[in-house]
Amino acid sequence: MTDFLESFTPGLPEQAVAAAPAPARRVWRHARVATLADTTGWGLIERGAIVTAGARIAWIGPESDLPALGKAAVEEHDLGGALLTPGLVDAHTHLVYGGDRAHEFELRLQGASYEDIARAGGGIRSTVAATRAASEDALFALAAGRLKTLRDGGVTTVEIKSGYGLSFEDEARCLRVARRLGRTGVGVRTTSLAAHALPPEFEGRADDYIAAVCDWLPMWHAQGLVDAVDAFCERIAFSTAQVERVFATAQSLGLPVKLHAEQLSDSGGAELAARFQALSCDHLEYLGAAGIAAMRAAGTVAMLLPGAYHFLRETQLPPVAALREAGVAMAVSTDHNPGTSPTLSLALMIHLACVDFRLTPEEAVRGATVNAARALGLADRGALAVDRRADFAVWDLEHPRELAYWFGHPACRATILGAT
Ligand code: NIG
Ligand code: FE
Repeated sequence: MTDFLESFTPGLPEQAVAAAPAPARRVWRHARVATLADTTGWGLIERGAIVTAGARIAWIGPESDLPALGKAAVEEHDLGGALLTPGLVDAHTHLVYGGDRAHEFELRLQGASYEDIARAGGGIRSTVAATRAASEDALFALAAGRLKTLRDGGVTTVEIKSGYGLSFEDEARCLRVARRLGRTGVGVRTTSLAAHALPPEFEGRADDYIAAVCDWLPMWHAQGLVDAVDAFCERIAFSTAQVERVFATAQSLGLPVKLHAEQLSDSGGAELAARFQALSCDHLEYLGAAGIAAMRAAGTVAMLLPGAYHFLRETQLPPVAALREAGVAMAVSTDHNPGTSPTLSLALMIHLACVDFRLTPEEAVRGATVNAARALGLADRGALAVDRRADFAVWDLEHPRELAYWFGHPACRATILGAT
């Protein structure tokens, strides 16, 4: 076993192994580990240990079986019996924006609806104005603060959408900010959501705007700014025909797609997205049987967003029982954004997914780890096993079901990111 650990050099081609310095070994011991590595169950290891080599897990198992590491171990950490889980994955956020929408929140509490506010020129458009007015450094500083809060709450990978720039350069700025955030430690996947709303300069010309987005996408992609493409398919946003053009462009670039679908009405978005083998369909409160069948056939993840459901005082529940029955994988994310989900606690979303959407605690925790990673097309994280990324969250909890039980106060002691 020691030999194996000595020679473990993840991710390097064979010729490079001899020349490259051996990655640093770290040992994490005396933890109750929830691996989530099998298709069901928590995968609990009562007194577990993990050996990491650089950014990867080299060994995981009961501490009593821990191989002798000798000088190979550079650091040992005794976790004192704390709970260790895969780092959480927040697979749907709109983290980069200027301003806030607290005033609209007050209007909604007085009776205005989200759609009323959007049609009156507020909503997404007001955040677009604030985002365009902010410098790239200011956007970075704001988003970095939000990202730190997510990380302090257990998140080690985050998806970040654009969608508040809505011009070639403003969208590029937001995507550059997201890429820059990815160099600060937390894993970042970027998503172009240029088809989020119609910018004022294209008023009455939605098809022209979609044509522009289809022209811009290859350029953002060529600049290395885009990992996936999203759109908002809704009566206050874009039609299935318009989204289809955006998806066709994404497909021609080899980029995976996902969709804000059936959030306010059943618009047929999920079926369209499934035709493009979407990674996920997100929100889904108004999803019908045809959409579920299409998602099941395509292996598309159902991304549930209880923060937006709560904040919009929605009463239509996503069809969780039918999704479960169909075997569609369910994920849970914050949907952090200033208009419908200004939260930075993925653990709170795990709680709400259970109480409001009736997920089991295990489903909700899987939703924020292994299924969220799948919704990003990432097979190297979300569960703890040899060769997976060494991204962990350490909790002052005894059992992972408590991630769903406590709410509104942080129990995360630390996040551990790969080799850092
Ligand atoms: O995920 N549904 C569209 N997009 C966001 C909200 C955007 C906003 O209101 O700023 C969402 O809910
Ligand atoms: Fe969203």
